[in-house]
Amino acid sequence: MKAKFLSKMGQRTGVPPISWLMQTALTRPKLISLAAGFTDNSTLPVELSRKLLNDILRAPKVGQPALQYGVTAGTENLRQLTATHLQKLDGGHDRAHSPERVIITGGSQQLLYMTLEALCDEGDIVLVEDPTYFVFLSILQSRGIKARGVKLERDGIDLVHLEKILEQLKKSGELRRVKALYLVTYFQNPTGATTSLAKKSAALKLLKKYERAAGHPLYLLEDAAYRELRFDHGDDIPTALTLPGAERVIYTGTYSKPYAPGARLGFGILPEPIFTTVQRIKGNHDFGSANLLQQLLAGALASGLYDQHVAKVRKNYAKKAAVMKRALAEHFPASVEIWESGGGLYFWARLPKGISAGVKSKVFQAALKADVLYVPGELCYADDSSRKKPDNEMRISFGSASEENIRKGIARLGAVLRKFL
Ligand SMILES: Cc1ncc(COP(=O)(O)O)c(C=O)c1O
Repeated sequence: MKAKFLSKMGQRTGVPPISWLMQTALTRPKLISLAAGFTDNSTLPVELSRKLLNDILRAPKVGQPALQYGVTAGTENLRQLTATHLQKLDGGHDRAHSPERVIITGGSQQLLYMTLEALCDEGDIVLVEDPTYFVFLSILQSRGIKARGVKLERDGIDLVHLEKILEQLKKSGELRRVKALYLVTYFQNPTGATTSLAKKSAALKLLKKYERAAGHPLYLLEDAAYRELRFDHGDDIPTALTLPGAERVIYTGTYSKPYAPGARLGFGILPEPIFTTVQRIKGNHDFGSANLLQQLLAGALASGLYDQHVAKVRKNYAKKAAVMKRALAEHFPASVEIWESGGGLYFWARLPKGISAGVKSKVFQAALKADVLYVPGELCYADDSSRKKPDNEMRISFGSASEENIRKGIARLGAVLRKFL
């Protein structure tokens, strides 16, 4: 939109790729979408939520406060329960898990947005994984924030590349514009990669090393949206909040993925002065997330039913990921490199170099014709002129499609790929 009366941001904001992908899926009923980042409808906690809501609304004395506005940072009991929940996930660690630093938000998306509002002006720089969560990239684009992509390996970012970028930015005088490094640390969207604790620690140390040259704190923005969807048998990896240097960690998490996106609540553990600033910004956005939903989640956590529910959800995704893995082995050409994941909702497929899977590619058009949709990997790369965007990758999700549709969708996609490889 170029209407001159709009704000600079209004004029700059592009069509989010997510709207276009959702629209494509909705207008083609026969299409099997392996693109959506949706959770599985069949595991959404309808009965559990009914029971908990009945409890909340059983009498005016308890129901009325839940139907009233709340406080900006979130209800006290949910903030406390969230802090305890995270402490438990982090093996009892409580270095940085104080309820006073917890904020409850309208999804972690809102928190990511507000964090950028708190930290970045137009022209500032955020370092991101290459590739990364494309809606985060849309926020950067819209707000005029520049991104620099750091190469991603299966256990997190390439630290040598990170240091090289920091050094380059120092030399060019741009380091003072760098505000944060954004990492999706568990079963990453889009690749499924999980960052090792050693890499989180090394990244924090590197950021610290460059702070003096930057002239201000350099934050690690740790997005743990998929953390609770682990289904492999490895141990949960602690967050960067457990490490020395945690005062530079901004941690964001969500109840959308493990519980229900329709009861959209996210949360964060924020250091000062970010906590107070984000709280003030949230005061202007909505002065508090929906109280009823917060009571619902608090009820689920306090009763232990949340943990029982998440265990079921994990089992379901383990099964669906196994179905996808078998289908990929059967139908995809061997020259396609697959990154499997031990959690989350996504696998990542890399076609041989020179074969494009991008939005305008023959592969993508042929897949649409065969009624199967994936997320072209190129959408997940930042606009970073220091390198060319790879376009030979695809994000394929086992989240919302049924087992039958996963099998069919992968068979269709495999047949398309065999034509081109
Ligand atoms: C990496 C990542 N972060 C954050 C979010 C936002 O989720 P929500 O706002 O529902 O918490 C998503 C949603 O798909 C995501 O993939």
